[in-house]
Amino acid sequence: MAIKPIYRKIFDNAKPFLRTRKNLIHTQIALRYALKLLKSEKGDEGIVIPAIILHDVGWSVVPEHLLLTAFGPNPTNPELGKVHELEGAKIARTILEKIHYPPEKVNEIFRIIQGHDSRKKPISQNDRVVKDSDKLWRYSRKGMEIDLSRFRIPRQEYLVFLEAIIDHWFLTPMATKIAREEILLRKRGKP
Ligand SMILES: [Fe+2]
Ligand SMILES: [Fe+2]
Repeated sequence: MAIKPIYRKIFDNAKPFLRTRKNLIHTQIALRYALKLLKSEKGDEGIVIPAIILHDVGWSVVPEHLLLTAFGPNPTNPELGKVHELEGAKIARTILEKIHYPPEKVNEIFRIIQGHDSRKKPISQNDRVVKDSDKLWRYSRKGMEIDLSRFRIPRQEYLVFLEAIIDHWFLTPMATKIAREEILLRKRGKP
């Protein structure tokens, strides 16, 4: 995936924090959707791209054996979700300051990461694009494969659920369109 050197640098700094929960592949796929969304949705790539690369670095502070209790259809430790947002925002700030990223952008990236799952109402158009890129992962071939095996949900049931939430879940028209296209491919069992 071709990304600008500054974003590559951010990604390289994020990698050590993306070792658990399949977060490296999750981040790569979410990043791919963010780049695609930015082609037609408004948004500042200088905020969206670092935010999507860094959004899940906070899972690195959650013990691995507790990860599956923290997210998914029936989390028994949902407060850990908040932990990954707050800690992730701090780690992201440290990384961005270390590479002298523009401070005014760092502030918005920090706020986006702090509420990327729990805050349902977006704080900006950039936030909308980040949230939608993160969600689109579930519709990707690889993302669906991973979620089906870790949550042990029947494939057919999951497809029905994912299709039903598209219209009220996504925040941008392009993400809604992509989700519809992806679900059709998944239904046909296509890569
Ligand atoms: Fe997250
Ligand atoms: Fe995520």
